[in-house]
Amino acid sequence: MTETASTAPAGGDVRLTGISKKYGTFQAVRPLDLTVPQGTFFALLGASGCGKTTTLRMIAGLEDPTTGTVFLGDRDVTDLPPHKRPVNTVFQSYALFPHLDIYENVAFGLRRRGITSVKKQVGEMLDLVQLGGYARRKPQQLSGGQQQRVAVARALINRPQVLLLDEPLGALDLKLRRQMQLELKRIQTEVGVTFVHVTHDQEEAMTMADTIAVMSAGRVEQLGTPGELYENPRTTFVANFLGTSNLIETEVLGADGTGLTVSGGGCRLTLPAGRCTAPTATGGKVLVGVRPEKIALTHADDAETVPEGRNRVPGRITGASFIGVSTQYVVDSPAGRGLEVYAQNIERDGRLVPGADVVLHWNPDHTFGLGADQDITAGEGEAA
Ligand SMILES: Nc1ncnc2c1ncn2[C@@H]1O[C@H](COP(=O)(O)OP(=O)(O)OP(=O)(O)O)[C@@H](O)[C@H]1O
Ligand SMILES: [Mg+2]
Repeated sequence: MTETASTAPAGGDVRLTGISKKYGTFQAVRPLDLTVPQGTFFALLGASGCGKTTTLRMIAGLEDPTTGTVFLGDRDVTDLPPHKRPVNTVFQSYALFPHLDIYENVAFGLRRRGITSVKKQVGEMLDLVQLGGYARRKPQQLSGGQQQRVAVARALINRPQVLLLDEPLGALDLKLRRQMQLELKRIQTEVGVTFVHVTHDQEEAMTMADTIAVMSAGRVEQLGTPGELYENPRTTFVANFLGTSNLIETEVLGADGTGLTVSGGGCRLTLPAGRCTAPTATGGKVLVGVRPEKIALTHADDAETVPEGRNRVPGRITGASFIGVSTQYVVDSPAGRGLEVYAQNIERDGRLVPGADVVLHWNPDHTFGLGADQDITAGEGEAA
């Protein structure tokens, strides 16, 4: 452990209770309760305009909440101005001081507090972000990713209890973004400071965060680990926004203690009762979901080779894109048009081309159920 880690400030969770923000009559953030456990990497994920930045700014003290309270640990900081909160923010435009070198950019927070012997701490911070050899360069002599790391070092040197990051990787190209995601995650793990990271990029949130809050229209739709959100979405928005889901409109045929049997597109499908968030009365409607990589494709001529006990629906391939690690198929089926299937490129069946009749089949345990009172397309096409 570095010294930074051992001396990281004790604090507590970030807790928002009933926090909301109205601009005039427009409700940018609806009253929400949210707890960010101390020392975790937390992501606020959602499409443009859903209220991520506003929520972050209320934690920072840059925006007054219309209702609600912001706690850091047991301390109510709602009325504290930004500079009195143990919180620092890294913005998308890093806002480094162009006339100061990297060393002085990082030292800035200490100097402002009247600390003159800054060498040790600045050195540690530059090492933390792996820029030890760049101390005497000016910001414009660094790459975007390096500047981004300076911005992180400049914020962390103040030993904040919480670091807020608002789309800090937005200006970087895709490859550098991916590198910096891992780098930021490493830094967070090393210093143990709570990170609250805002992004509209679901892959970014899943790569870095311990917990993700998926936001839509000023509300938190669902909160969980990346795995929980991906495997057990509770709304169509989360199912479609986080990755891709095939959603099939079905009617409940019956339920027992463990399983639910439904009918969709003339097919009988089963799913674990515990994975259905919708009411399961017989005759009721349920949207049944399955992720594209969970589905296998078998040519219709070999239909009898599909093992018993799997969910199966017939279909016809309408599109196939080879993307290296996998082939992505689009299949029209009585159960739904445009179903997506991702098949790893291991042994490819040359008959699986557009126009081919196929059977889609999957393990019933990989099926989830959602309430049919929602827009089946919510969240589609909103991801970056
Ligand atoms: N000062 C303001 N006055 C009026 N409306 C505002 C103000 N700031 C933000 N809004 C509105 O509040 C909503 C939420 O804005 P916010 O900046 O939190 O979105 P966001 O989720 O961060 O989006 P993005 O991904 O585009 O940055 C938006 O519809 C925005 O237009
Ligand atoms: Mg924003």
